Amino acid sequence: MRDEYIIKPKFTDESTAEEMSYADRVAADLASSGLSGEKAPKFYIQTFGCQQNVADSEKLAGMCCTMGYERAEKPEDADLILVNTCAVREHAEKKALSIIGQYKHIKDSKPETIIGVGGCMVTQKARADKLKNSYPYVSFTFDTGAIQSVPRLVYSALKKGKRSFVMSENWEINEGMPSLPSQSHIAWLSIMYGCNNFCSYCIVPYVRGRERSRSAEAVIEEAKQLIERGAKDITLLGQNVNSYDGGMDIAELMHKICALDGDFRLRFMTSHPKDASDRLFEAIAEEEKIVKHLHLPIQSGSDRILKLMNRKYTRDAYLEKIEKLKSLVPDISLTSDIIVGFPGETEEDFEDTLDIMKKVRYDMVFPFIYSPRTGTPAAKMDGQIPREISAERMKRLLELETEISNERNERFLGRTMRILIEGESKNDSTKLTGKGDTVRPVHFPKPENHEKLIGTFANVRIKDVSTFSFEAEII
Ligand code: 5AD
Ligand code: SF4
Repeated sequence: MRDEYIIKPKFTDESTAEEMSYADRVAADLASSGLSGEKAPKFYIQTFGCQQNVADSEKLAGMCCTMGYERAEKPEDADLILVNTCAVREHAEKKALSIIGQYKHIKDSKPETIIGVGGCMVTQKARADKLKNSYPYVSFTFDTGAIQSVPRLVYSALKKGKRSFVMSENWEINEGMPSLPSQSHIAWLSIMYGCNNFCSYCIVPYVRGRERSRSAEAVIEEAKQLIERGAKDITLLGQNVNSYDGGMDIAELMHKICALDGDFRLRFMTSHPKDASDRLFEAIAEEEKIVKHLHLPIQSGSDRILKLMNRKYTRDAYLEKIEKLKSLVPDISLTSDIIVGFPGETEEDFEDTLDIMKKVRYDMVFPFIYSPRTGTPAAKMDGQIPREISAERMKRLLELETEISNERNERFLGRTMRILIEGESKNDSTKLTGKGDTVRPVHFPKPENHEKLIGTFANVRIKDVSTFSFEAEII
């Protein structure tokens, strides 16, 4: 099964190839134990955070398979557990630490289990040190620049029982890692890594390093492989995809990917308003394969707060871009991230945020209560907002969001929509779920031959819309 499912990149660099050679050594070692079938060694990956982490975890899964592990359904069944952590808000770190805490029982009952922790949380030295000193059952940690070293770290733990804590700060591109997508029809494709923007609240530039773009050839080659193995929905990923510079800009890259043979659709995230260009908007308008959706985080509607956030645009500049995009793609679905309770946010600043939501009319917003991150400038700013005030503002924001979303959803009522059928509905086993050009899932009754439909496109008619999802019938 390994060869059939793993994506093997054509573009490889020497240092990654060297690290991958340890995967073969682990495989040889595991094979010599003679365990196969039910007893074959197994891996389990727990992922927190953004789609970038999901994409990284697919690479980790590719490496685990190359090392000879098979996927386990639950961590208790695994011989190798990897936790891919997030650091963007305190809550994400707390959740990861709590899960890692629970894995102690697994290690206690099965001491040969190898537990490794990677991702943004352990790219902060203090967190890696905490795991080293207070979680003795964790075999290794690896920062976001050292994913390719996992086979070597596993080898070291397996053969020498050695604990390792890697802070590589390697911000080079590492081409050549295998990948095992978790679904064949939905693909996450990293086109660049890191961020140069240093928004004052954000930990990402410190834990993901500076911006670097993969070459367009490598990206296009990977897109081709993904399409060949059945990808129907491809999302180009980067912290700030609009500053992609891999020999061409993102607009040209998307035109080139759209020109590849195959029935698929293309998405991209995340965009920074200061870099979202007319060329990008024109590409969305021109290319049928690009989904008519733009996630363009505004973060705040107050110019004063935007300045404190170091966002480098004003609300008027943002609105101007939105108007331009709406003139090119009138039916565009817009979504945004918004931070509530940034230090110094007054009632008036918050009302500016509500006001811009009313002007833009987002299909959906992802609101977050500000979470101070050690090492970022905002964590030291005066005027930290008490939790009760942030929570009360969040409540008001969500009420407005629901009102606007409901109104935006109405436009789809009665429409025919082409959706990609993703699988059975989570809440109703008599229904299938899919997604069209909008952000809301679409549910419809299972037709007879439903197994064959998963991962294919279908036309449905929208019969009913609610805040979070649409009900439809298949045509
Ligand atoms: N507190 C709250 N939200 C944050 N985000 C990033 N950093 C923080 C923080 N310190 C949000 C931003 C970003 C999204 C991915 O997470 O809105 O766009
Ligand atoms: Fe964080 Fe700003 Fe970079 Fe986004 S653009 S990852 S919010 S620093």
